[in-house]
Amino acid sequence: MKKYLISLCTLVMLSTNGYVLADKEHDKAYNEKLDKSLMRIIQSNDLTGDPLLNRTVPDINSPKAQLGMDLFFSKTLGGDFDSACVACHHPALGGGDNLALPIGVEADSPDLLGVGRTNDDALHNPEVGPPVPRNAPTTFNVVAWDKFQFHDGRVESLDKTPGANGAGASGIRTPDSAFGVADPLAGNNLAHAQARFPVTSNEEMKGFNHTEYTGQTIRELLAGRLGGYGDEADVLDNVSYWLEKFRSALVSVDGSAEELITEQNVSMMISEYERSQAFVNTPWKSYIKGKTKALSYEAKKGAILFYTASSEGGANCSSCHSGDFFTDESFHNLAMPQIGSGKGDGEDGSNDFGRARETALAEDMFAFRTPSLINVEVTGPWSHAGAYSSLEAVVKHHLNAADAIENYDDQQLTQADIRNLDQMPANTKEALDSASFALENIQLSDMQVGFLVEFLKALTDPCTQDRECLGQWIPDAEERNDPNGDQLNAIDQNGNLL
Ligand code: HEC
Ligand code: HEC
Repeated sequence: MKKYLISLCTLVMLSTNGYVLADKEHDKAYNEKLDKSLMRIIQSNDLTGDPLLNRTVPDINSPKAQLGMDLFFSKTLGGDFDSACVACHHPALGGGDNLALPIGVEADSPDLLGVGRTNDDALHNPEVGPPVPRNAPTTFNVVAWDKFQFHDGRVESLDKTPGANGAGASGIRTPDSAFGVADPLAGNNLAHAQARFPVTSNEEMKGFNHTEYTGQTIRELLAGRLGGYGDEADVLDNVSYWLEKFRSALVSVDGSAEELITEQNVSMMISEYERSQAFVNTPWKSYIKGKTKALSYEAKKGAILFYTASSEGGANCSSCHSGDFFTDESFHNLAMPQIGSGKGDGEDGSNDFGRARETALAEDMFAFRTPSLINVEVTGPWSHAGAYSSLEAVVKHHLNAADAIENYDDQQLTQADIRNLDQMPANTKEALDSASFALENIQLSDMQVGFLVEFLKALTDPCTQDRECLGQWIPDAEERNDPNGDQLNAIDQNGNLL
């Protein structure tokens, strides 16, 4: 009788959701099998899930990071008061700008960030688009880099001690020093060394009215502007605003502007803010810590493909995207579509030789730093020139680059003026044909590519998609407004505050 009842029930269920039930049973066993394989992978790769393990991360509420935030959002550091760090690195835009190629100075609307930010045609060659030739990487987790900043590593720690964030004993090389030689003014760590450069770039921040100031002289001019001393002593109505902030961050009640508001302290404060942007609490981390439900079935399949060698049917991603920060901090030529104005390399100057620009080595031709994949879901468009607008497309490029270039769809670019690039195929082909080209062809089905993308999405810290959570890293538009009117309170193309 009991047996009869059960089979009756089964019959009823079969006709309604029996399939789902059977599938769930199967799923459970299958998931356990996946968990076992992943456990082995996690162990053999020595993964902890936490790229910030044993690192000192500044607190966003520390006085230095707070002042750094004000500076990061201030157009006072733009030569013509129309650009700021945040113009290309907004927390609500994944620490980037959501554009393939950034727009710094002379934007039609300086406070409008993301899709819809445009600039005056006169500033750039309309055939190649905006004058900044590379995609803006995220500032999130800069505290986790130990060796290089920038796509070509031109800010480089000469002592590559893991965990040091570039603060090793032998110093940091920057574009201000020769290759392999430490820059005595590079500062405390990689983020500090990097933060001294955007203000020197005409296209990113400086503009074209201060071209007689270069390198150190523009940095000092800007520090003096904030402090009310030096060449632009009278441009701010309210100088005490910044002096008070520096006094409190540096715990110096009566230090003078000349003593406290120096270019070294300005860049140091900014770097403390950037280094506080630690977003690593991903589902992948929870999974490694033992929460097997943190990953979907699809993401688990993707993780296995990611960590499995191509000879064993995997996608071999971890050979470069290795470790808890998903990067070997090394350089590889993937022949990503070379869109934009380029770095002045090649026959007509529209190409970008990448790392070889620094090392002059043939093996570094067209090679770019392996990006971290933590939060990669929110840091698009992807690749060094931002040529891809979907994760599917950039992953597929890795599997068959020649095919991806051949079939490249420029309609994915939201900036219409960088489409129709006559030089893209030839420039990219040069990279593809170079002896340094680093990829093998790997055959995966669309479903497998989907699994890889699901795994990449499991590398997103939910805070990066939550405006309230990000609020700590974005100064309140009303409460904290700089009395000089230079705080960049970003809006999107519909006029809503970011
Ligand atoms: C016009 C857009 C723009 C502005 C403004 C700008 N940046 Fe960037 N930033 C970029 C681009 C593009 C790169 C990559 C350049 C390259 O690799 O050659 C970059 C790279 C970086 C990096 C390196 C990240 C990494 O992973 O290597 C950091 C950090 C950074 N910027 C911080 C700042 C700070 C701090 C400021 C203000 C002082 C600033 N940026 C202003 C566009 C911008
Ligand atoms: C040979 C080393 C190497 C291998 C193998 C590799 N990558 Fe990459 N990956 C890179 C480099 C280098 C870049 C940046 C290239 C550029 O921009 O020119 C990159 C870029 C990316 C990006 C874009 C990230 C961004 O911020 O723009 C994603 C996503 C990515 N890889 C995922 C994968 C996946 C998934 C696999 C496995 C199918 C994989 N990678 C295999 C080296 C590699």
